[in-house]
Amino acid sequence: MSYDPEGEGARMSFRDRMSYGDYLGLDAILTAQHPLSQAHDEMLFIVQHQTSELWMKLALHEMGAARSRIAAGDLQPAFKMLTRVARIMEQLNSAWDVLRTMTPSEYTEFRQSLGESSGFQSQQYRMIEFVAGNRNMAMVRPHEHRPELVAPLLAEVARPSLYDTVLARLAAAGFDVPPRERLDQPHQPDPRARAAWAEVYRNPGTYWELYELAEKLVDFEDYFRRWRFNHVTTVERIIGFKRGSGGTSGVSYLRRMLDVVLFPDLWELRTDL
Ligand code: HEM
Repeated sequence: MSYDPEGEGARMSFRDRMSYGDYLGLDAILTAQHPLSQAHDEMLFIVQHQTSELWMKLALHEMGAARSRIAAGDLQPAFKMLTRVARIMEQLNSAWDVLRTMTPSEYTEFRQSLGESSGFQSQQYRMIEFVAGNRNMAMVRPHEHRPELVAPLLAEVARPSLYDTVLARLAAAGFDVPPRERLDQPHQPDPRARAAWAEVYRNPGTYWELYELAEKLVDFEDYFRRWRFNHVTTVERIIGFKRGSGGTSGVSYLRRMLDVVLFPDLWELRTDL
């Protein structure tokens, strides 16, 4: 006789109850894959992007909440959230191992189907950069035809970034770090912030929470850099130096993005220690 879990109390009928798939909205998620070619690997390409977008959604949820906690001076819960964000980035990093199994020949089979769509137009990716503090208004333009995607990006650049709220904690601890005048720009290295961080890192016992906060941000950026590196390496492996579907120079553009620094003060202070 085969085992029947009903004997253990497992519910088997969901005619008038919420089931697993109902709760998770699986009908919507699992019917959202629409390959446009007959190529076997197009499904991999679609699922890999969709799952990345889901993880980005969670990362944004955590980053927004962490920022609010930091602004309120409630750092312990923010540490936990930022640790989770770093783990999400790690998860996204491991995901490249799956995509790497696709060869240039396999990608070429469905490349035409993508048209000019590209991760370059990922609104959530831009939002992650904007929340962290890497704000470039030019990156809003690919969304101009979708006001509902533009509005949150514009709202984001009008408010202090995650790093701005961290700088406000430094100021609250008595350091001379005035708020930035232009919030819609990437963070530039600031000698006062760099000096303040150097002081924190020289005296971790005195400034333990700020010290831990800084390390959480460095962790986040460390994993983010790895994501960019894994992306560009996978892209080179698959398309070489061909132009990107989004129209940029492709690998050359992505290599330039490797030089982007989210929190320059936190990296530069290390030279001073
Ligand atoms: C076969 C796999 C992939 C190829 C060949 C590829 C190629 C590219 C290229 C060439 C660019 C530069 C923009 C352009 O001209 O298109 C780009 C940007 C981007 N891709 Fe991919 N990509 C791949 C997979 C992925 C995956 C799985 C994700 C996950 C969401 C992703 C997310 C992004 C993002 C966010 C950007 C913008 C980066 C920036 O502007 O700094 N890509 N991709």
